[in-house]
Amino acid sequence: DRNIKIAPSILSADFANFGQEIQAIEAQGADWVHIDVMDGHFVPNLTFGPMAVKAFRPHVKTVMDVHLMIAPVDPYIDAYADAGADVLTAHIEAGPHIHRTLQAIRGAGMKAGIALNPGTPAEAVAHLLDLTDLVCVMTVNPGFGGQKFIDMSSKIRNLRAMIGDRPIHIEIDGGVDPTTAPLVVEAGADVLVAGSAVFKGGSVDSPEVYGENMRKI
Ligand code: DX5
Ligand code: ZN
Repeated sequence: DRNIKIAPSILSADFANFGQEIQAIEAQGADWVHIDVMDGHFVPNLTFGPMAVKAFRPHVKTVMDVHLMIAPVDPYIDAYADAGADVLTAHIEAGPHIHRTLQAIRGAGMKAGIALNPGTPAEAVAHLLDLTDLVCVMTVNPGFGGQKFIDMSSKIRNLRAMIGDRPIHIEIDGGVDPTTAPLVVEAGADVLVAGSAVFKGGSVDSPEVYGENMRKI
C-alpha cells in the first residue's frame, strides 16, 4: 500500500495571512505544503518569489514543496535553497537544459522535481529518472487554481512503470478533489496537490473545514 500524501496549495489561501493559513492546514493534517511560484512569463499569472518563500519557512513544520512555474529556472536555484525549500520542482518545458537544472537543484541540497504540462508525454523524463526525486503530472494547464481536471491517467500509469522501484514520488497537481483523487491514486500517484478543494468554505477562523475537506480527498 502506497502512503498517500496531501499537499495543499496555498495559492488558494488568504494572501494576507500566509503564516496562519500554513499553520492551520498543518494542524488539520496536511502532509506537505505546496507553494506555487509564477512569473507572469512561463505562465500568465504572478504569485511570489524567494523572499516570500523564505518568510513562509518558519511556519512550515512538514515539507516545503516549491513548484516553480518560471523560466529561466537556473539563476534562482540558490535563492530557493537559501529560502529553505525541501523539494524544488522545475518544468521540463521551461528551458533546454532540464538535466543541468536537476543536477543544480540536488547540488544545492534540495530534492529535485520535474513537472510535466498536460501536453508533454511521460517519455520526456526517461533519461532524467536517476536525477529526480519527484515527477509532477499537471492535470490542468498551469497558472491558476480552480481549473477543471484533465484526465492524465495513462501518463501516470506509464510513469509508474518507467519508475519501477526507484524512490520517486508521482505528484498530481490541478483539479484534485474527492471525485478525481481516486482516479489518480489508482493510476499510481502518491502526492496529491489540492488548492481550491482544501481551502473552499474554510478560513483561519474556521480551519476545521480544511480538515474535513482534506479527509474527503
Ligand atoms: C496550478 C498550480 C496548482 C493549483 C492547484 O498552476 O500549480 O498547484 O494551485 O489548484 P486547484 O487544486 O484548485 O486546481
Ligand atoms: Zn502547483
